[in-house]
Amino acid sequence: MPAFSVALLNLKPGTGKTTSAVWLAHTFAAAGHQVLLVDADPAGSALEWSDLAAMDPRLPPAAAFPFRIVALPSRRLHLRLAEIAHPDDVVIIDAPQLEDHSGIARSAMRYVDEILIPCAPSPIEINRTTPVRDEIAELQDLRDEPARSAVLLTRCITRAHSTANARETLSDMGYEVLRTTVPRLEVYAQSFGLPIPDTGRGVWREVAGDLNERRASLRKVRLWQQNGSGARLR
Ligand SMILES: Nc1ncnc2c1ncn2[C@@H]1O[C@H](COP(=O)(O)OP(=O)(O)OP(=O)(O)O)[C@@H](O)[C@H]1O
Ligand SMILES: [Mg+2]
Repeated sequence: MPAFSVALLNLKPGTGKTTSAVWLAHTFAAAGHQVLLVDADPAGSALEWSDLAAMDPRLPPAAAFPFRIVALPSRRLHLRLAEIAHPDDVVIIDAPQLEDHSGIARSAMRYVDEILIPCAPSPIEINRTTPVRDEIAELQDLRDEPARSAVLLTRCITRAHSTANARETLSDMGYEVLRTTVPRLEVYAQSFGLPIPDTGRGVWREVAGDLNERRASLRKVRLWQQNGSGARLR
């Protein structure tokens, strides 16, 4: 089992899965983690991004994406990753849209510690997360321990009321919503195919911090289960 695994997943295309997965992979790698970025989308955007970035003349090819990246658009993803991931890895999966590639998306959901649903603070995107929530609920029985999931509000207009409103609506719908929200910025919109710049990394460090906090609480739950509910945590 890797140190931590997270899948960026949603029902529809174009919600920010690949952008979030790639920026997060760079953020965890820059913080000293061993990262495995898994491109589970048959469209192969994350892999294409890393190939293009490796051609950028400003950096040596290996420095553009300084971590392992594999293409695994497979319904057996959960089994393959058990073989491929190293124990210290932070595994980040760019999952395909659930509506078109449900087999692969479900396999990713079976594997990861955390399912992160990138969603803009708009009523239409919020409504379209419902099948993801239902799918997560259905898959819980296939897992050793329940999957955690949270919405990552992204492409947010700074200072607009929509972000706070979306948080409230999503919370009322029963979602956990990450504390950090990702703004809609040109630096992210234009980042595909390029090495990740220094500008714009701060927000992703905060997202990674939120995930780390959740991961720490997950570890406590695991220890608690291993030691029996009455035992002291080490
Ligand atoms: N925070 C952001 N600010 C501005 N633009 C963003 C942001 N996040 C993503 N985008 C843009 O939104 C579009 C969709 O993002 P992305 O490709 O990451 O979505 P996706 O869910 O992976 O899509 P697909 O399902 O097609 O693979 C892209 O043009 C991307 O540059
Ligand atoms: Mg994508």
